[in-house]
Amino acid sequence: METWFVIISSLCIAALIKPLLNLIVSPSSSDHKKNLPPGPTSVPLISTLLWLRKSFSEMESALRSFRAKYGPIITVRIGSRPAIFIGTHTLAHQALVQNGAVFSDRPKALPTSKIISSNQHNISSAGYGPTWRLLRRNLTSEILHPSRVKSYSAARQWVLGILINRLVVESQSAAAVEGVRVVDHFQYAMFGLLVLMCFGDRLDEKQIKEVERVQRQMLLGFRRFNILNFWPKLGKIVFRNRWQEFIQFRQSQEDVLIPLIRSRMEVVKQRQQGKMEPDKESVVAYVDTLVDLELPDEKRKLNEEEMVSLCSEFLNAGTDTTSTALQWIMANLVKYPHVQTKLYKEITSIVGPSPQLGEKNKKADMLMLNEDDLQRMPYLKSVVLEGLRRHPPGHFVLPHTVTKDVELEGYLVPKDATINFLVADIGWDPKVWDEPMEFKPERFCTNNNTSDGGGPADLFDITGSREIKMMPFGAGRRICPAAGLAVLHLEFFVANLVWYFQWTAMEGDTIDLSEKQEFTTVMKYPLRAHISPRGLSQNQLRVKSWASSTPSLHLPRLSFYFDLTMLCIYEDIYAFVYLIITCLTLVSRSVHFSSLASIEFLHPISYAVWLPYFILFTLPETISLVSHLLTLSLTAPAKQTNVSELSR
Ligand code: HEM
Repeated sequence: METWFVIISSLCIAALIKPLLNLIVSPSSSDHKKNLPPGPTSVPLISTLLWLRKSFSEMESALRSFRAKYGPIITVRIGSRPAIFIGTHTLAHQALVQNGAVFSDRPKALPTSKIISSNQHNISSAGYGPTWRLLRRNLTSEILHPSRVKSYSAARQWVLGILINRLVVESQSAAAVEGVRVVDHFQYAMFGLLVLMCFGDRLDEKQIKEVERVQRQMLLGFRRFNILNFWPKLGKIVFRNRWQEFIQFRQSQEDVLIPLIRSRMEVVKQRQQGKMEPDKESVVAYVDTLVDLELPDEKRKLNEEEMVSLCSEFLNAGTDTTSTALQWIMANLVKYPHVQTKLYKEITSIVGPSPQLGEKNKKADMLMLNEDDLQRMPYLKSVVLEGLRRHPPGHFVLPHTVTKDVELEGYLVPKDATINFLVADIGWDPKVWDEPMEFKPERFCTNNNTSDGGGPADLFDITGSREIKMMPFGAGRRICPAAGLAVLHLEFFVANLVWYFQWTAMEGDTIDLSEKQEFTTVMKYPLRAHISPRGLSQNQLRVKSWASSTPSLHLPRLSFYFDLTMLCIYEDIYAFVYLIITCLTLVSRSVHFSSLASIEFLHPISYAVWLPYFILFTLPETISLVSHLLTLSLTAPAKQTNVSELSR
């Protein structure tokens, strides 16, 4: 063997051994000198790959066990940077509130986030600097200011009308036998509301669904695209199809959102030029506030892609989080009927009995609880807070980083580390909360009799500025800027949904509260509930209780007997046709066959056609038949007299 080959090989091996030894790193041993928070031993690359393969719940339970082993602040090596997790409320307060200016930066965006955020030109991903300040101040002062939030009241009413309508329709459909699956309706309602706040228009169902589709496909696919960030240059070759899919998702997002942005900008332009008067129902939309913004570093206006990123952030941040929280709260109200009853009593004691669901209440003129009513409902506030504590939609905040090396709890938090917080665990800390895993809204009341006007849950500081006890919205300078709006939305929908409907579990269903990770932490088994309108007249209530034994079949069954009677009496061809339709409806309901279920719409139509016919032709006949029978019965005693006379 050539000497040069031996020398070069030895040098290569020596060069490899050092990094290999360095690869086996334990923050608890070698990093001790640097004083990084402790954590498990890790082998870069391999550890990262193992982490990426873990499901979210596996990651969370691993972090919990590290926390038990190493203490409230731990380091895990995922990727090239150390990831530091903070697991107690006191340390979270020290970092986010007392050291807020240092802990409020965001890490450099990974390749996929870079595309989605238009190179960190949105609020949640922008570094702690002038761009972030400008964008965040724009959102808080232009959209989230209390007077502006009030101006969206008609929008909330509109969406509530749609939601109630959808729930009523589904609860009367064939599928209701298995309970109404509410999550899709909640998501749709939140999209409808946020889309209106974003683009200023009441879009139709097709448009809202289109926006929902492009937003959710990106949101739900995001975890799948994480692998693309691992080794981006190689990843683009190895995962070529996935990259293309990702780019395609972003493209379809732009295809749907850009026309909406353009048409809104046209409205703004026309108004500025005085060519268009704002109509009665017009609101200031998020897009309106972006048109004239100028980026401080680059001294230029936002381009369309950046507007897409900001609108997309607005929609995603506000829809999935709120609809997830709403579902968790309603699930607990179904699981614990005594909480629902107490809440219902509070609502009716303030605003009176539930309204009836009639024509008048269906759309814009529908009765609803408004913001002022909600302010007088302390138990409602406690229910919402307890929902957010027990089931925070995000079990972590968005990753933070520090602006410079800093010390926390005697450990070094280096500038390149990502920092996160065990949000769920902080809200479940048994040292802070009594029986933390129980759903007990009363814990937020200063006395246990809030319905009598006691205990204001509004004294509870959800921002954590004085002390952090739970942090579903984060804390400090990066706290969710829309925490107030989100709580209002939750109170508004929970109160109205409980005022309008009684929510009960389906027979045998104990309401499983297991979790599953999507963009937020959602219910593994989405809530299915029996929903019955509370505002019923006495007669409706009687019919309802009579029919409850066969909830999905009683109406068509009634029609069946009615039609059969008509057929027997009048041998009527129309009655025969209705009988056939009713039979089909009955069959469709009992076999839950979707194509047959569509026959149900014939039912009201057939009666609409039949009613005038009945009044014109059949009713006079019925009246004459009844009067004939009456005459018979009235003349009967006279006949008896005659018989007795004869017998005499
Ligand atoms: C129940 C509903 C909501 C929950 C639980 C929630 C929670 C959060 C959390 C945990 C963060 C990260 C905080 C951090 O990184 O420290 C956040 C950030 C943010 N949220 Fe929310 N949020 C909700 C609703 C909304 C709504 C309705 C909007 C907008 C309309 C919104 C807009 C934002 C924005 C823009 C940020 C980034 C803030 C920044 O980086 O400065 N959120 N939210």
